[in-house]
Amino acid sequence: MTSILTAAQQRYTTKAFDANKRISDADMAQIEELLRLSPSSINAQPWHFVIASTPEGKALVAKGTEGAYASNAPKVLNASHVVVLCTRMDIDGAHLQRVVDQEYADGRIANEAAKAANYKGRSFFLNLHRFQNRDVQHWADKQVYLALGTLLLGVATMGIDACPIEGFDNALLDEALGLREQGLSSTVVVALGYRSDADVNASLPKSRFSASQVITRI
Ligand SMILES: Cc1cc2nc3c(=O)[nH]c(=O)nc-3n(C[C@H](O)[C@H](O)[C@H](O)COP(=O)(O)O)c2cc1C
Repeated sequence: MTSILTAAQQRYTTKAFDANKRISDADMAQIEELLRLSPSSINAQPWHFVIASTPEGKALVAKGTEGAYASNAPKVLNASHVVVLCTRMDIDGAHLQRVVDQEYADGRIANEAAKAANYKGRSFFLNLHRFQNRDVQHWADKQVYLALGTLLLGVATMGIDACPIEGFDNALLDEALGLREQGLSSTVVVALGYRSDADVNASLPKSRFSASQVITRI
């Protein structure tokens, strides 16, 4: 297992995958846990992850790369696995109740009275986003991006390459995967696997603003 910093230094966006190399089931099980364990505000977990590993599944995801996003199609098709990170569209009181019920079942909440208080406390934040800021979907998307960060850094520590993809048609992908019928919508896609020899991006140096430009120590 690579250290976190080494993983951050060595990881890069893989532009060409070796279609013959497959991520092991054991590694995929760990990756699924990374996604599931990702933190989120008020533990809302406003997400669902569709993971394509068959040629048919990947072809469905590739439908989202038609047209202007065609350059991303080979990444999806040649990857070992492709994760579609979806945002839930129903982040309301009923969803919050499911969160609290789960925490109760998992032993984090002592009794029914504490459960009610817990629900009330978290409703403040949910209602802030639903009714005051009116940005509940944007807020939910932000939580999904935490799962994206967890996934990208996590797989890097496992020696697995990744390509995060925002370049896709959300309407086409939602349609291909039947997401909207399930109250879901695609937010970001990650192709996972192993780089091919043809990946020119692998040998390019990493480019970032300097620490003095992005970090202020006070
Ligand atoms: C949210 C997100 C979306 C991205 N979308 C694409 C994409 O559609 N296609 C692509 O080739 N690279 C995509 N990238 C890769 C970025 O260009 C890349 O992360 C950035 O240039 C930094 O390079 P590095 O990842 O190699 O360190 C995306 C990255 C992120 C984080």
